Amino acid sequence: DLSVTWLGQTMPGCLYNASGVWCREEDELEAVRASAAAAVISKSATLHAREGNPEPRYHRTALGSINSMGLPNRGFAYYLDYARRYDYGCGKPLFLSLSGMTLDDNLSMLRTLAAAGLPAIPEINLSCPNVPGKPQLGYDFVATTEALNAFDLAWPGRYGVKLPPYFDPAHFAAMAEILNRHPRLAYVTCINSIGNGLVVDVDSEAVTIKPKDGLGGLGGDYVLPTALANVREFYRLLPGKDIVGCGGVKSGREAFMHILAGARAVQVGTCLYHEGPAAFARIAAELAELMRSKGYRRLDDFRGKLRTL
Ligand code: DHB
Repeated sequence: DLSVTWLGQTMPGCLYNASGVWCREEDELEAVRASAAAAVISKSATLHAREGNPEPRYHRTALGSINSMGLPNRGFAYYLDYARRYDYGCGKPLFLSLSGMTLDDNLSMLRTLAAAGLPAIPEINLSCPNVPGKPQLGYDFVATTEALNAFDLAWPGRYGVKLPPYFDPAHFAAMAEILNRHPRLAYVTCINSIGNGLVVDVDSEAVTIKPKDGLGGLGGDYVLPTALANVREFYRLLPGKDIVGCGGVKSGREAFMHILAGARAVQVGTCLYHEGPAAFARIAAELAELMRSKGYRRLDDFRGKLRTL
């Protein structure tokens, strides 16, 4: 039984897509919903549609991926329209990822979503690394404080935030202290890509993606240990909030690791990009088999129970 009860509802499993992957167009969103995924999240929306950065802007490697997409998306109204027509009765929650170019844009999207009165849950992205000249909000604790205070006024319900990876205990503690001041912040997703990595091709002696002279967000195997550290630390530091694990999940084993570290649900990014929505049924079957072999019947039996030495 991989079902998950959170956000006041029970969803049929624990896996869904990482925002950005297989979720920019309605047919992709519907393919995720029709798959073994347990929920659906849309591509990070800006107030107005964007083409994104020049190509090539995604590169696959043996160990994962690097991307600098630059927020190509259909614009908030497109995803809101999808949310208006979404079949919430299917039991799979719909999350709308919001990544406004300014705080005002985020507030405008939140107010419009609130006025629509839908059960869709916003996941506000504090961590897009790929828009030239725009720093990741989650690395600026003052700007994050200001943003969360404003979100509380613009949005009356539960919401989540997508965090960048942190690499120092002082930063985990500082961010947790800020997040804990917001009771309607129901969950955090850890982690966004590790920003501004560089993948080099030896044959051509060149970078592999065009934007930002080759710098881009890393996903896949590269990021699994960093993702697990962030899930674990925020699980401990944010009592009463849920953690969504994201980073390096390509089989039931990594999904198990995230849940053991404290994740309530688990998103799949790079692996979904490479394999398509069939990945959800495969990973779920592998996780179920791993649990069976260990004598676990539900995720609550081992969530957060990572042992130390
Ligand atoms: C993009 C990348 C991200 O990591 C993110 O959180 C939002 C957008 C992008 O490049 O499109």
